[in-house]
Amino acid sequence: MSSNRILQASAELRSAIQPTLRSSTIRIPKTLITPLIHRPFSVSAISRQPANSPAEDLAANIKPTPEQVDSYLSSKLLHPDYGKDPTFAKNLERIKEHDIPQIQITPLQGQFLSLLVRSIGAERVLEIGTLTGYSTSYISKALPYHGRIDTLEINEKHSKIAQENFLESDLFPFPKIHLGPALKTLKTLKIPEEGLYDFIFIDANKDQVLDYFLESIKMLRKGGLIVVDNAIREGKIIPSSEQSSTIEVEGFRKLYDWLEQDNGKTVLASGIQTVSSKSWDGFLIMTKLV
Ligand SMILES: C[S@@+](CC[C@H](N)C(=O)[O-])C[C@H]1O[C@@H](n2cnc3c(N)ncnc32)[C@H](O)[C@@H]1O
Repeated sequence: MSSNRILQASAELRSAIQPTLRSSTIRIPKTLITPLIHRPFSVSAISRQPANSPAEDLAANIKPTPEQVDSYLSSKLLHPDYGKDPTFAKNLERIKEHDIPQIQITPLQGQFLSLLVRSIGAERVLEIGTLTGYSTSYISKALPYHGRIDTLEINEKHSKIAQENFLESDLFPFPKIHLGPALKTLKTLKIPEEGLYDFIFIDANKDQVLDYFLESIKMLRKGGLIVVDNAIREGKIIPSSEQSSTIEVEGFRKLYDWLEQDNGKTVLASGIQTVSSKSWDGFLIMTKLV
């Protein structure tokens, strides 16, 4: 920027501030700040302005982020019995305290699972991938007291913390954790005496997602739902993004290939892309037809 333009912008800035100097908050027009913060000498008083609030961003025509929308929707939609239950916040605190990866679903996604479980009147649920029981707790809260939820986890530390969280949330039905490699557990798991599962949530290691799907669908009733998390992976599931392929992406491609071959005989499926406070991802949702 030329020195003439800098001097001119400074004068404009001074005259904008002058009438408001006596008030406690000084509001400086953004059009004036923008050219000045790039000049080569210190303007610390200006560059330390706090970040805009979402409302200010909107007023300035800056697009809200998925994170801001998540937080808006959460403030409007989280239910006192589900996402607003304080034991969920405690669960998240434990994740941080114990240095566990923050790979649980979001509160709105948890409430979405609760909604699906309730909408089909599910009584028995199978979950693959417990972590600290965050999603498990949402699902349990959507079940009738006489319902049942089995959750599969390989990591002993995760399962111990999950158990603590379940006790603290006083859940009914109380989730049963099956510790061990999920595929092995699935092969020996007994179908509940009351009947087949109504709902399955697959959210463990994604390289084995096809195996988990094939093994668990045998235990699902006709009309039951399977939801698979992280099924979009920032679009990397499509083969043209070959160079960014990972074992997780490969796992999903195998599942999508299987579904293509099945041609709608076994399940009716849909992929729902989501943007959330976390990333661009999505759910694969299926209902069993036979
Ligand atoms: C994404 S986290 C589950 C998050 C959880 N569903 C939630 O939203 O709160 C995946 C979990 O699967 C577990 N896991 C990974 N490989 C597994 C395997 N082979 N068998 C069982 N669990 C496994 C991990 O230890 C981790 O706790």
